[in-house]
Amino acid sequence: MDVYEALRTRFSVRAYKDSPVEADKLRRVLDAGRIAPSGRNSQSWKFVVVQDAELRGALAKAAEQPFLAKAPVIIGIVGLTPEDVMFCGVPADPMNCAIAIDHMTLAAVAEGLGTCWIGHFDQDTCCELLGVPPTAKIVEMLALGYPDAEMPEKSRKAFEKVVCFEQFG
Ligand SMILES: Cc1cc2nc3c(=O)[nH]c(=O)nc-3n(C[C@H](O)[C@H](O)[C@H](O)COP(=O)(O)O)c2cc1C
Repeated sequence: MDVYEALRTRFSVRAYKDSPVEADKLRRVLDAGRIAPSGRNSQSWKFVVVQDAELRGALAKAAEQPFLAKAPVIIGIVGLTPEDVMFCGVPADPMNCAIAIDHMTLAAVAEGLGTCWIGHFDQDTCCELLGVPPTAKIVEMLALGYPDAEMPEKSRKAFEKVVCFEQFG
C-alpha cells in the first residue's frame, strides 16, 4: 500500500472487532510514531499503550465515549514539554505529538487496522489512570483495532476553499 492509498482509506473507526492486535503489528504502528519528525528533533513524547480491559473501560468513561472501551488498544500520546512554545508562537507538544499520531494512523491502515483520534477526555482523570506525572500532559488518545465498520464517504471542504497561492484569501 502506498501512502496515498493509506491517506484515502483511513477513516475514524468507532466500532471494533473483538480481536486483539498482534504484537508485531502493534510494534510496527508504534514504531511509525517513534520515527516521526519533531521540532529540533526533540521527540518530546511518550506513547502509553493500554490493553488491560478494566483500564480501557475507565479511559472510555473519562472520555465519555463508550465505543473506546471496545478498542483492544488505546494509546495515550503524552507530551513531555507542555510549556514549550516554538519561535512562531505555536505550542510544540501538540504539533509534535500530532505528527507522531498521524504516522501511527497511516501505519495502522497499512496493517489492516483502524484508529480513532480521541481529543475529548478528562485530562486529570486520564493522567491519574495512566500515571502521567504533573510535568507532562496527554495531548491525545488513539483507539486502535480491527475495524467493524465500513468507510463512510469523506466530507471535506473543496480544494479551492482550502488552498490559496501567494496570499491568504
Ligand atoms: C484532534 C482530533 C480530535 C478528535 N477527537 C475525537 C474524539 O474525541 N472522538 C471521536 O469519535 N473522534 C474524534 N476525532 C475524529 C474526527 O471527528 C474525524 O477525524 C473527522 O470527523 C473526520 O473524519 P474521518 O477521520 O473519518 O476522516 C478527532 C480528530 C482529531 C484530528
